[in-house]
This record gives sequence, structure tokens and C-alpha cells, in this order.
Amino acid sequence: MSRHYDVAAVRREFPVVDRMLYLDSAHQTPLATSIKQALIRFYEEGNELAGPKPVWLRRVDIIRERVAALFSASPSEIAFVKNTSEAMNIAANAIPFAPGDNVLLVEGDHPNNAYAFLNLQRRGVEVRFVQLREGAVDASTFAHHIDRNTRAISLSHVTFHSGHRFDVASVGAFCAEAGIYLIIDAMQSTGVIPLDPSQLGATIVGSGCHKGLLVPQGLGILYCQSGHQELRPAYMAMSSLAKPPVDYIARPENMALRDDASRFEIGNFNLPDIHALSASLDLLERVGIPNIEAHLYDLGDHLIDHLDEAGISLVGPRDRALRSPHIYVLDLPGDGWAEYLAEEQVRVSPERDGIRVSFGLFNTNRDVDDFIRIVRRRLGATRSRDLAPTS
Ligand SMILES: Cc1ncc(COP(=O)(O)O)c(C=O)c1O
Repeated sequence: MSRHYDVAAVRREFPVVDRMLYLDSAHQTPLATSIKQALIRFYEEGNELAGPKPVWLRRVDIIRERVAALFSASPSEIAFVKNTSEAMNIAANAIPFAPGDNVLLVEGDHPNNAYAFLNLQRRGVEVRFVQLREGAVDASTFAHHIDRNTRAISLSHVTFHSGHRFDVASVGAFCAEAGIYLIIDAMQSTGVIPLDPSQLGATIVGSGCHKGLLVPQGLGILYCQSGHQELRPAYMAMSSLAKPPVDYIARPENMALRDDASRFEIGNFNLPDIHALSASLDLLERVGIPNIEAHLYDLGDHLIDHLDEAGISLVGPRDRALRSPHIYVLDLPGDGWAEYLAEEQVRVSPERDGIRVSFGLFNTNRDVDDFIRIVRRRLGATRSRDLAPTS
């Protein structure tokens, strides 16, 4: 049951729930049946009609418009890329860093964000890691670390390893005032939390589509705020050009870039995944991302109540304002939990500081109850062993 949408109907889209207790959507979401069918339709078109590429490309434009609507952005601010890492690398290489400039990152944030910027060290750019303090990450986290050479802050919206939800809007306001670019890795929030990059003050937002956006791996979205012509792509192809040569002959004098986000796209698209995204957007639009967020927060509250009763602590924040709706890392005592849960057909991810439970739009309170029952069974066995008198 959900107070927010017909979760039973959504659940029917995910047959995997009949085979296992799937609590790993922050790793990847299982494929929904309607999205699988969209992929099959695409492959059938290729197979039976030799792929009408102009038709496929017209659909890319329509899907770009729908992605833009999801981000309350203009289609000209959206590019299709490969994944989050590519988006972060595009951002890192587009920013006009000079030697001696610096960029601020959060210590322990996702490595795919960090390495994109660490790679700039060879160009004399300094990477400053700011400690993740207890509680919120907001503008005050960075205020003491910037100087006149700071050009950018790059951080996750939601952390994959503890479920922190950073106060990106406050960081965005700070960046706007300081004249600094703000880059957001939204991999863990797209499809789970409504996102409005302009309201967050983000210059570039990057996200893969294989978690909250429900599409198989290999497609990413890049939002680039309009009006930043100084942000130039590190690599170029015909699709980056304002006027691609109709005769397909490259000329050095024809290098003017498109002025929208598509200047960051190169070569052919991941067309199967973009078609899958269309079906995913159908599902997400039908359910509503604000409803998904609200439902996942309810599941989180339910989980936290159970954890309190069982005496299990949460690694990340408990407060709704500071936590993500769907990621909960449990500090379970002793070893062997990942193996035990796998044997019990429970899919979770072992993380740095515990076992990560992450919800998807198809999970229910009953899933939480089942999970806790399975955890308690092992806890009970372990605790009674601990209590047993030794001979
Ligand atoms: C915050 C975050 N960034 C990035 C990634 C992955 O990057 P990519 O989309 O390049 O595989 C993940 C997880 O897979 C993540 O949790």
C-alpha cells in the first residue's frame, strides 16, 4: 500500500519482485516490463524495417523535450551522454580552469565525480577535498575553503554510501554570489527526487539513467545551464557544430559550435536506451516523481521504526530534511551479512560502513517487514549464541 499512488499496479511492472526481495535500486533498478517492451519494439524496427533512422532521431528530439520537462529546463539545456562519469568529465574539461585555479569536492563523495577533476591536476588545477561533517552539507561547508582562485564546486546531490541529501540549493546560491560554477552528480536523485537545476543554481548536472530513470546502463543525461558559451567541449564531432557540413567534408574554418547543450554530444546516440527512456518517462510521469519521493520517505520512516525496535543503528542521517528518500545504510553487528542476505534471496549492497538498503518505486511496507524479519532471524541466532554460557 502507498498513500501516494497505486504501488500494486507499479509492482506488476517488475516481475522480479516475485523472485527476490529487491532492495538495491541505488545500485540499479530491475527492468520494468513496459521498458523491456519498448526495447523489443526498437529492435523489431531495426530487424524488420532496417531501422528508420530519421524516425528514431525525431523521437530523440521528443524525448529530449520530455527530459527537459522532468528538469523544468529547456530542451536546449539537455544533452544525451553515456553516463554520470562522462557528464562529470565533460564538465571538468569544459570549465576554463587556468593553472593555479582550484575546485572543491566533498571527501569520500563518489569516485567517478572525483577522478574527473583529479585528472585536471596534470593541468595545474588544485583539487581541494572538504570534509563531510556530521549533519548537513550546505553553503557553510564550503565557505571557508574558497579563495580567489576557486572556479567550481562539484558534489553529489545524494550520497550513494550513506544516503545524505545535500542542501544543494544553498550551495547554488553561494556559488552564484561567488561567481563559481556548480556541478551536480544527480545519479542518486534522478527519478527519485524532483530536480530543478535552475532552482538549485547548478551550472551542469549529470546523471546516468540506470537507477531512478529505470533504463539499462549506457545512457546519461547532461543538463547545461543556457548562456554559458565559454563552456566548450573537450572533444568534437560533426554533431557539435552549428553548421555541420552537408557534404561531410571537414573544413578547419567550420568549427563554430552549437550554442545549446547538444554541443557536448558526439557521434551516434544510444538509440535503444533512449527508446527505453521514453517508456520509463511514461511510467514516471504516470506515477509522479513527487509521489515516488513521498512513498520512499514513508518506507524509510517504516524501516527506521523497525531498526529502532531491533536496536540497529543507521549510518546516515535520520532526519527527512537531511536524508535521501531511498538510501539507508545499516550498521549490522558482525560479518557475513551480505552472504546471508544473498542466500535469503534479498538483494542489497554492502557499502563502506554497513549494508545498504535502497528502495525503488515498487517497494512496499511489506518488503520492509519481510526484510526486518530476515535480519532479526540472524540477529536472534547471533545474540543467543553470544548469550549462551561457554563450557
Ligand atoms: C553518486 C553516483 N555517481 C555516479 C555513479 C556511477 O557513475 P556512472 O553513471 O558513470 O556509472 C554512481 C553509482 O553507480 C553514483 O551513486
